[in-house]
Amino acid sequence: MSTNDRTVRIGLIGAGGIAGAHVAGYALNPETVTFAAVADPVRASAELRAGSTGAAIYADYNDMLSQADIDAVDICLPHHLHKDAIVAAARAGKHILCEKPLCLTPEEAREVAAAVAAAGVTLMCAHNQLFLPAVAKAKELIENGTLGRLYEVRTTDSFYNDFDPENMGWRAHAKTSGGGELIDTGYHPTYLMLHLAGGAPVEVTSMLATHRLTFMEGEDSANVLVRFDNGVIGTLVTSWAYEPADGTERFSAVGELGSLTSDGTVLSYHLRGEEPVILELEPVDQFGAEIGHFARSILDGTRPLHTEKEGIEVLGIILGAYESARSRSIAAVPSLDRV
Ligand SMILES: NC(=O)c1ccc[n+]([C@@H]2O[C@H](COP(=O)([O-])OP(=O)(O)OC[C@H]3O[C@@H](n4cnc5c(N)ncnc54)[C@H](O)[C@@H]3O)[C@@H](O)[C@H]2O)c1
Repeated sequence: MSTNDRTVRIGLIGAGGIAGAHVAGYALNPETVTFAAVADPVRASAELRAGSTGAAIYADYNDMLSQADIDAVDICLPHHLHKDAIVAAARAGKHILCEKPLCLTPEEAREVAAAVAAAGVTLMCAHNQLFLPAVAKAKELIENGTLGRLYEVRTTDSFYNDFDPENMGWRAHAKTSGGGELIDTGYHPTYLMLHLAGGAPVEVTSMLATHRLTFMEGEDSANVLVRFDNGVIGTLVTSWAYEPADGTERFSAVGELGSLTSDGTVLSYHLRGEEPVILELEPVDQFGAEIGHFARSILDGTRPLHTEKEGIEVLGIILGAYESARSRSIAAVPSLDRV
């Protein structure tokens, strides 16, 4: 941490598309964040993200780790590069914010967990949708017992993606993306389900499909069922092939006393025998809130909402879903966190 101004000095690794939202998020947290450096082999991308901030520019993140005055890194790389960057940053003693997915395999997950534990740094998964006010309020209603014992959680994240083979880049290949749509956009409804379900995932079954984006190596759509150790059953639908039907919830939860549902903005809940309650919540910038939460976790020494523990559980659900589709059976969620 900078001792003078008590900001977390961040070095961005990967200055592509999503990095723009992260850089905007730094600017929303001037009291706690300094954008100190950026690393990307494509100079023009690094320069674009640095803008007029004065952030130091590096082609190689290893040079940034050894030379730049930074406390933390923010990893916005293609999926197959996450693990190496996490391990390198941890070994350099830097705290880590990492875009989804945490990494791609059980072996990588073990390496990540070991490196973070050995270094004693904080790793936060950049699970931006947890910072939607509707999600935070839903979590509060579930935790304070408003719905009673929880039975089911549903999450949906589907949209009509106009990817074509020319503009899809590393996302078109399983080797660089880790699979298909499920380990990419499908990661969001998976961590959202985990967060709301509040238990550990134990088994999973899935059906994958390629409805439209036939040039992808992996699936463009997935339907997944998950059983959690607290008895909650999760249902997840995610797709790049089509928009969800009108009225489909972004997330919902049902318990013994009633239910809640949200389109991601408005949250309503309905207890049996009572009138529905509709909550209009103030919108926030998800990435600004996420980066602010990361910085506060570092400055205050508090646990971020999702660390590598939850990142590994989300990866476990997704790898279990892939295994289920391959074996056409219910798969155990692999326990990846034993190092
Ligand atoms: N949270 C969200 O809603 C959301 C949305 C989009 C992407 N993402 C995630 O963000 C990550 C990046 O996705 P993107 O869409 O920005 O990808 P992108 O392809 O636009 O950007 C990747 C960047 O990494 C750079 N890069 C490649 N190798 C590098 C290296 N060794 N060192 C430094 N930089 C390197 C590339 O030059 C490029 O600028 C992925 O994990 C993706 O899943 C999250």
